[in-house]
Amino acid sequence: MTSTDRHILDLSRRGLLCGATAAAALAAILPARSRQVIAQPLFRAYPFTQGVASGDPLPDGVVIWTRLAPEPLAGGGMPRSAVEIQWEIAADPAMRQIVQTGTALARPELGHSVHVEVTGLEPGHAYHYRFRAGRVASPIGHTRTAPALDAMPAALRYISAGCQNFEAGHFTAWRHIAEEADIDFVSHYGDYIYEHAARALSPTVVRQHNSDEIYTIDDYRNRYAHYRSDPDLQAAHAAHAFLMSFDDHEVDNNWAGIHSEEDGSPRFPHAVPPEIFALRKQIAFQVWYESMPVRRAQLPRGADITAWRALRWGRLADIAVLDTRSYRDDQPCGDINGPPCPAVANPAAQILGPAQESWLFDRLANTPSTWKILAQQVPIMRRDFGTTSLSISMDKWDAYPAARTRLLNHIHDRSVKNVSVLTGDVHQAWAGTIHLDPDDTKSPALASEFVATSISSNGDGSETLPTTERVLSRNPHIAFFNNRRGYTLHEATPARTTATFRGLDYVTRPGAARMDKGVFVVEAGDARVKKG
Ligand SMILES: [Fe+2]
Repeated sequence: MTSTDRHILDLSRRGLLCGATAAAALAAILPARSRQVIAQPLFRAYPFTQGVASGDPLPDGVVIWTRLAPEPLAGGGMPRSAVEIQWEIAADPAMRQIVQTGTALARPELGHSVHVEVTGLEPGHAYHYRFRAGRVASPIGHTRTAPALDAMPAALRYISAGCQNFEAGHFTAWRHIAEEADIDFVSHYGDYIYEHAARALSPTVVRQHNSDEIYTIDDYRNRYAHYRSDPDLQAAHAAHAFLMSFDDHEVDNNWAGIHSEEDGSPRFPHAVPPEIFALRKQIAFQVWYESMPVRRAQLPRGADITAWRALRWGRLADIAVLDTRSYRDDQPCGDINGPPCPAVANPAAQILGPAQESWLFDRLANTPSTWKILAQQVPIMRRDFGTTSLSISMDKWDAYPAARTRLLNHIHDRSVKNVSVLTGDVHQAWAGTIHLDPDDTKSPALASEFVATSISSNGDGSETLPTTERVLSRNPHIAFFNNRRGYTLHEATPARTTATFRGLDYVTRPGAARMDKGVFVVEAGDARVKKG
């Protein structure tokens, strides 16, 4: 063992220090060694506090992830050195039949996270994985590779979930997701964290954030670590592969492209200029990358990140993960919920941005797969909340109708069949049919849309709202609404897709049972959503 190896991550002593004193002490004990690699770290506190995760499966591999953070709520508690991590992939849950091993570096630049892009695996196979650092082993995770590109699997089972405000409720839904059987992947549409300050405990704030509103890189790291310390969330990551995306709260509420929430909104007297907001985005995306089982292609560059990407589930499904935040125009009409102002009619409106839009259009028209799944954030379908005239939410595709029309015209004109949209963001479950003219159910039905409710955001909720009957009558293309927390379980076969809305009757206390609130099917070749 070298002197570097002997350097102990002396966490118990550091734990007695605090703030600047701890930082000074750390610097003092790591003078000349700070650029060296620690091959055999010795930990005095368990370093795998964030669990393990996997994601973005390909036919021959998958990303496996972990992060060393013995002091998860205090910047991680690691020395300013890279640390070696060993990883193992096994065919069995007891990790006896090892099929691959390797070494990765947990670098201080990335918060001591590792993203191993494993290759050389068998298509359509289940695997188990774990990490070791020094003499300490991580929990064991389970994952799956995608089928071969030319295979036609009998079924694809996947979950759509997101919006997990830590303060608003327990992550019971993640526990139920962890226990779902035969899941190929979980699509997380975003709002993995919420950026706001800790609020006072109350009937609707049942547990508290760890800090004030997050701005610095340590703020964001500690916030992700706080969320990731939840055992139910960790169990879901250990159980299934994830397709990670982000929505607004990974950065700031309702941001849009280069614009912060405050920019362009009369509700805020002091806008954050785009060049200042870009600094916050840069930090937020770095820590999002550090915290997620995603590929190196998603490593941010400055304030920009390429999160849109796709994967294939053989000839059964093509899944496009979209980013509806980074390239959109600022929300029109001051980002209100209300009647559309003239700016909504902007013929050049962008919600995907030109590059992502043309990539998506090309993929939709040319993929050989039966189902085209769009894993994205904000509702595409018309949701008219008015009483006598149109009233919409300016944060959704409803407020960017020119962009929606380009998408729908493309689907119609190129005869793209079997488009299934996964959505989140609104903390309610919805199912509906998207027509060529979103206001005319007699126009061609082009796609189905399933909006997953939140894991915990907005608390216990209710089955319906006082407005539900009116909203459903004004929007005849909408087949389902429910205001409980939960997630959506989907199954796609060559013949149909089935969406089962799993709901929980409460999240402000732990332990709610899982109930099915609605089941809807879409037959291949007919985009209309029907009761199952
Ligand atoms: Fe949310």
